[in-house]
Amino acid sequence: MLLIGPDDVRKAVESDVQSFLDSLARGLKEKSLKEGWYPSRLSTDLPRGWIGIMPAFSSGSNVVAVKIVGVFPENPKKGLPTVPAVVVLLDAEDGRALALIDGFTLTEYRTGGASAVSAKYLARRDSETLLVVGAGTQGRSHSRLIPEVLPIKKVYVMDLDEAKARKLSELIKSRGIDSEVVSSPRQADVMVTVTTSKTPVLTGEHLAKGSHVCAVGAYTPDARELDDTAIKKFDRIVVDTMDSLKAGDLAIPISKGLINPEEIYELGEIVAGRRPGRESYDEITLYKSVGTSALDVAAAAHIYYKSLELGLGKEVEWGV
Ligand SMILES: NC(=O)c1ccc[n+]([C@@H]2O[C@H](COP(=O)([O-])OP(=O)(O)OC[C@H]3O[C@@H](n4cnc5c(N)ncnc54)[C@H](O)[C@@H]3O)[C@@H](O)[C@H]2O)c1
Repeated sequence: MLLIGPDDVRKAVESDVQSFLDSLARGLKEKSLKEGWYPSRLSTDLPRGWIGIMPAFSSGSNVVAVKIVGVFPENPKKGLPTVPAVVVLLDAEDGRALALIDGFTLTEYRTGGASAVSAKYLARRDSETLLVVGAGTQGRSHSRLIPEVLPIKKVYVMDLDEAKARKLSELIKSRGIDSEVVSSPRQADVMVTVTTSKTPVLTGEHLAKGSHVCAVGAYTPDARELDDTAIKKFDRIVVDTMDSLKAGDLAIPISKGLINPEEIYELGEIVAGRRPGRESYDEITLYKSVGTSALDVAAAAHIYYKSLELGLGKEVEWGV
């Protein structure tokens, strides 16, 4: 069995970002076409946190992945990430354990990667500016991967913690893209909300015609990063999984009758060619995500095969 740590995950993805994004797109398509198995997550509260177990079977890759992810709010005091995670990858043919993969780094890349796939299908092809609200782990991956699919020339970064915003902005500049720290949202062609905020960070006035928004941070029924004025401006709403309709960003406006859930569809349906992506220059589009095991299994299979190809990871002897 291969042990694939955080550095290995990074190298496996960074060695060929376009093929990683293609793997995620295929994973979303498989899910929308119901070609695999993506049961609901099992979860429980623990004395100091929460743990969730997300299994998935990808028929395309013929593997099973199980992600075990936790949320432990007191972890930063111990110098540990709030959201530790591990992914076990099994061969679907014989049940052999193929790999144990660092799930924290995998989640970082697969979430930003899925937003990049959404930008490929829903953002204007000439999008040059990107706003990132939330300069944490997801801010890092979104600012890394979205410029892979669009000609982004400038990234605005905003965070309650200005030091974090400055640090991310410097990182973006070191990657060769101009960047500026802002203290309030700046209109941009693509706008990403990746915060831990429970209350809106973007309003309708921040959304210019033709923009694309990726709302990624809020996942509980009561939390939202977009307010009612923003939600009412979207001409097209697309999700990673229909579970996103239970998150506050969509559940609250649906309950108020502000948006019609019947008109919302999955990104995988666009990849499959069953539903349209952006259809006009001026429309304002939203990609709302809460995460899906389809992305975890697609990312895990990609990272495993890339690791074999590049000689990454550490092989350990295992029973089966
Ligand atoms: N949709 C998905 O698939 C998916 C996957 C992973 C994480 N997430 C969610 O994305 C969010 C961000 O995750 P992360 O790992 O980057 O967290 P993080 O803690 O590393 O970063 C969050 C950042 O948001 C900032 N922030 C909080 N409130 C803000 C506000 N009102 N305005 C501006 N900045 C604010 C914080 O200062 C912090 O820097 C979390 O809520 C997480 O649960 C979603």
